[in-house]
Amino acid sequence: MVDTHSHIYDEAYDGDFDEVLQRARQAGVEKMVMPGIDSKSHGRMMECARRLGEYAFPAIGLHPTSVGSDWEEELQFVWSNYREGEFVAIGEIGLDEYWSKDFLEEQKRVFEDQLTFAWEKDLPVIIHSRNATEDIFDCLDRVGKPVRGVFHAFSGSYETYCRIKKSYDGFKIGVGGVVTYKNSHLAAFMDKVPLEDILLETDAPWLTPVPFRGKRNESSYIRYTAVKLSELKGVSLEETDEVTTANAIKMFRI
Ligand code: NI
Repeated sequence: MVDTHSHIYDEAYDGDFDEVLQRARQAGVEKMVMPGIDSKSHGRMMECARRLGEYAFPAIGLHPTSVGSDWEEELQFVWSNYREGEFVAIGEIGLDEYWSKDFLEEQKRVFEDQLTFAWEKDLPVIIHSRNATEDIFDCLDRVGKPVRGVFHAFSGSYETYCRIKKSYDGFKIGVGGVVTYKNSHLAAFMDKVPLEDILLETDAPWLTPVPFRGKRNESSYIRYTAVKLSELKGVSLEETDEVTTANAIKMFRI
């Protein structure tokens, strides 16, 4: 499997990094994609990328919750640290209207600039969308390029999924621990979403699946999400693994 969204470089793993990594490998995680956040966490991520080589692939991007009064410097940091061939995606980028709307106009500007950049570089984007579905679509429409990528931690409705399929067909949805939660509305329509449209992810150290909900998440727990997804879709775990892994390899060219 590929964990397409792992913040394994996060300080949450400082105490037991090697064990976490070993458990991930044992659970069948063959590769990971590490989404970027901002200039503060970039160094740690790149250090991790150097250390893990062809196991953990970095993305670069300015996260919407890191868009503040210094947004111009932060965005400049992305442009000046981008190196051809070093990053597998632009992300995570997007809009977060739950956390704060104080810099919403700046968030949109930063998101759109990075969408355009990703299109120019022919890289997929990793989209973070929280309480912002309509605005995300507006930004994609304004940019007007056939950008491809993933709606990370997709939490929308079946209708939103259908809209993505219809109008933004270069996109897949990222499914993680949320699908294991009791009464998850996502779980209710997974039978209607083909595996070809799904990327598996953890968002570790956040969004921990059942039975560890409430604790720190880690990549090895992707197993619980894969099992749950297989049950919901009535397919074997092998099929889920195989198809979603192929999706990830194709999307990120890893
Ligand atoms: Ni994330």
